[in-house]
Amino acid sequence: MPQVTRFEEPKTLGVEPTDRFQRFAAFVRREVGIKLDASKRSMVETRLRRRFTLLHCESLDDYLTYVFENGALDRERPVIVNAVTTNKTDFFREPPHFDHLMAEALPEAIARRRSVSDRVKIWSAASSTGAEAWTAAICCAEYALRHGPFDWGIIGTDVNSEVITQAQTAIFDDTFVAPVQPDLRQRYFRTGQGDFAGQSRIIPELRARVRFFEHNLLSGVALRDCNLDVVFLRNVLIYFGAADQDRAIAQAARSLVRGGILYLGHSEAMSMRHPDFDVLGPSIYRKR
Ligand SMILES: C[S@@+](CC[C@H](N)C(=O)[O-])C[C@H]1O[C@@H](n2cnc3c(N)ncnc32)[C@H](O)[C@@H]1O
Repeated sequence: MPQVTRFEEPKTLGVEPTDRFQRFAAFVRREVGIKLDASKRSMVETRLRRRFTLLHCESLDDYLTYVFENGALDRERPVIVNAVTTNKTDFFREPPHFDHLMAEALPEAIARRRSVSDRVKIWSAASSTGAEAWTAAICCAEYALRHGPFDWGIIGTDVNSEVITQAQTAIFDDTFVAPVQPDLRQRYFRTGQGDFAGQSRIIPELRARVRFFEHNLLSGVALRDCNLDVVFLRNVLIYFGAADQDRAIAQAARSLVRGGILYLGHSEAMSMRHPDFDVLGPSIYRKR
């Protein structure tokens, strides 16, 4: 008999915690594409702590037992998806894309629309709380102010239901809006009063043209509209493996009209392996 020291953990029968986390990571990868290695365990634990405490689970492992071995997976799926996504975003993030939108993509799309149908259509494909879609909306409104009115519409989608709910409100903390140029803030935001002091809301004229809904880039479900002029697919591919990056880019390609523009995140240019795009600039592509 080997001697057991008092520091040795008792051996448990059946599934080990590391196996359970691996099973969790495999589930997340299948559902939303996000890669979670063992180093992400404590991040996951922090993000799910409130949930598992609410359910009277003593630890992440306890919660994962409940989810995978006690039949709670369907109920917990949205909670898990919301917890594992990273939603950092900003207004006018990676500004050269919005310069390009104003200088090239919008004039081209307006010219194309005059000969096809009217509306210029833009998709923010992993929109988080909406700053990217609302920035594109501000660009469209500014373009119209300088060059004359045109019809435009924007959709924002994300797999995380909480950020979609937040994006739909179009309300942001003033600190978050502060980096937006003062003249644009004045034109496109209203300052909150009373309960909304310290917050700003996008003006109704822009809100009428932007819609948000839940959508998983990897679900295989295509957007109804495959006739878009511009797709923003930024700062989401970095969380995926190569095969899922290719699937997400293929989905963007299917959604774009010929000549349409795709923007990837600046650090994601190396993910572009799709044959149907010409490179226009750093992380800017045109569908052939
Ligand atoms: C870091 S944010 C990027 C937000 C914005 N595109 C930007 O660049 O500021 C990444 C977003 O991708 C979303 N996401 C992750 N996996 C996704 C998937 N499979 N389908 C759709 N959205 C996903 C996350 O919920 C998160 O809001």
